[in-house]
Amino acid sequence: MLTLAPFCALLGLAATSYANPFDKQDALTDCLVGSGVPINAPGSADWKLDSAPFNLRLNYTPVAIAVPTTAKHVQDAVACAAELGIKANAKCGGHSYASFGLGGEDGHLTIEMDRMNKVVLDNSTGIATVEGGSRLGHVAWELYQQGRRGFSHGTCPGVGVGGHALHGGYGISSHTKGLALDWIVGATVVLANSTIVNCSKTENPDLFWAIRGAGSSMGVVTEFRFDTFEVPEKVTYFIAPVQWPTEARALVGVRAVQEFAKTMPMELNMRLFIAKRFINLEGLYYGDKAGLQAVLAPLQKITNATLAVATTGGWLDQIKHFGNGVNIDQGHNLAQHETFYSTSLYTKALSEEKLEQFVSYWFKQAKSNPRDWYVHIDLHGGENSAVSSQDDDSSAYAHRDYLLMYLLYDRIDKGTYPADGHTIMSNFARNITEGLPKEDWGMYINYPDSRGLMDQETAQVNYWGKNLPRLQAIKKAVDPNDVFHYPQGVLPTTDTRSL
Ligand SMILES: Cc1cc2nc3c(=O)[nH]c(=O)nc-3n(C[C@H](O)[C@H](O)[C@H](O)COP(=O)(O)OP(=O)(O)OC[C@H]3O[C@@H](n4cnc5c(N)ncnc54)[C@H](O)[C@@H]3O)c2cc1C
Ligand SMILES: *[C@@H]1O[C@H](CO)[C@@H](O)[C@H](O)[C@H]1NC(C)=O
Ligand SMILES: *[C@@H]1O[C@H](CO)[C@@H](O)[C@H](O)[C@H]1NC(C)=O
Ligand SMILES: *[C@@H]1O[C@H](CO)[C@@H](O)[C@H](O)[C@H]1NC(C)=O
Ligand SMILES: *[C@@H]1O[C@H](CO)[C@@H](O)[C@H](O)[C@H]1NC(C)=O
Ligand SMILES: *[C@@H]1O[C@H](CO)[C@@H](O)[C@H](O)[C@H]1NC(C)=O
Repeated sequence: MLTLAPFCALLGLAATSYANPFDKQDALTDCLVGSGVPINAPGSADWKLDSAPFNLRLNYTPVAIAVPTTAKHVQDAVACAAELGIKANAKCGGHSYASFGLGGEDGHLTIEMDRMNKVVLDNSTGIATVEGGSRLGHVAWELYQQGRRGFSHGTCPGVGVGGHALHGGYGISSHTKGLALDWIVGATVVLANSTIVNCSKTENPDLFWAIRGAGSSMGVVTEFRFDTFEVPEKVTYFIAPVQWPTEARALVGVRAVQEFAKTMPMELNMRLFIAKRFINLEGLYYGDKAGLQAVLAPLQKITNATLAVATTGGWLDQIKHFGNGVNIDQGHNLAQHETFYSTSLYTKALSEEKLEQFVSYWFKQAKSNPRDWYVHIDLHGGENSAVSSQDDDSSAYAHRDYLLMYLLYDRIDKGTYPADGHTIMSNFARNITEGLPKEDWGMYINYPDSRGLMDQETAQVNYWGKNLPRLQAIKKAVDPNDVFHYPQGVLPTTDTRSL
């Protein structure tokens, strides 16, 4: 049986202590309207669409929804929020697993960016100017149409470039071509004091460093400038299912995949997708089918993976494939939702003892989960990974060096997600990290813990590791009052615990 991984399929956090922001709803609305900022009328169809979270477990009510169409509108919206002491957050594709585009709690100003989605490629320099409310599929589509160019990013067309590229952006091209944020060469940012600045390697370099990994805490990006590459003529996407019916065989299989990850060639991008009903190796190879077969053969021999799909096609073909049939060119009118708990991990290569624990938990605990769960493990690092080829402090993305990146996801198709449903996946993650030194694991803010199981101090350490002190100092300089607050974001205070 062949099943494409449903990763992209359509199928209580602590409140901050400030005066009830809803008391200021009229004042905020007056300020926005008075400044000429477009807003959604509460209860209107656009209000419902723009405030509907991707994760239906985490429904939050904004005080107001601003819908800017210009950078000036964004500046004025931030000024209104700051003046009234209301927290403000940009929302781009709205695909945060923890509804951070809505602030991750009730009572924020949502700055809905998705009407700002212009993409212009300068065909002579290869630099693309991308407005801060664009979705990934739209960006990929435009770059291809305007000059057969692209950059590496995640696979779901509806995900926003704002959230995605400002916090990492690991996609099915990243082992070959790096993170989405590696392609940012400049950005225009509205700061908490409502000034607008540009940043790049040479202009406001601290801000440029900070937005590439923790952008949501620093300001609102109205425009990105991305470098691009000429897309390859031919790539080969593949699915290689495995059958590991026993713990012993799964142990052999996972161990082999982990070993393979350490030295697999740069041209190969792959993840191990462990789901309730199937286990796949799947990915993208920069080359033809014969090249892929040669590269995968040694791993197939140990894991018994069968190459069920290996299709060579052009750039948009692989985007369509990994987008699971969702239209590539996505704009404002997208309603995509799931009901789930998810969390994430990065680790180095697991020790033999940890591998055994992993497989044991999978077979003894996770398999009894009645819901539709999966754990997918991206082969993120290794000797030949473009992500790991840069230092951990080259941007705010602190976890380049880790070999493996895990998304643990547990969802329901209908009904109510149980109050304690998260424990199966959160214990899975804890089972892996238990006893590991802190420098041996981290978490990905684009795959946040969507139950707020950590306090904010711990969350910051897990997401930003050794880069946290520098980030907090920059945050203090650009947003001392934490206007762009959300419950797992960077705080403008110094964490004094040793990292
Ligand atoms: C179906 C699906 C598939 C995914 N696939 C991948 C994948 O392959 N690889 C991967 O790495 N991740 C993936 N993700 C995770 C995704 O990268 C994150 O959820 C990302 O943060 C979503 O960005 P968004 O703009 O859609 O979300 P939003 O909820 O709009 O925003 C997320 C965060 O970014 C901030 N933000 C958004 N726009 C801006 C802006 N212009 N300026 C400043 N801050 C901004 C928000 O305030 C919020 O904190 C996937 C998520 C989903 C739901
Ligand atoms: C951009 O450049 C590519 C490659 O040189 C070319 O094929 C394409 O026609 C150009 N597009 C435009 C809009 O100029
Ligand atoms: C930022 O850079 C862009 C592109 O170079 C330029 O058009 C814009 O005026 C600059 N904005 C600011 C605020 O400096
Ligand atoms: C691969 O197949 C052989 C022969 O059936 C079997 O002995 C072995 O356990 C399998 N390995 C895995 C990892 O499934
Ligand atoms: C991890 O899971 C295994 C299998 O369920 C269990 O035996 C072990 O005690 C767990 N370890 C920790 C540290 O939770
Ligand atoms: C706004 O904040 C930035 C960053 O802290 C600072 O450099 C700038 O001077 C401030 N502008 C105004 C008008 O206060």
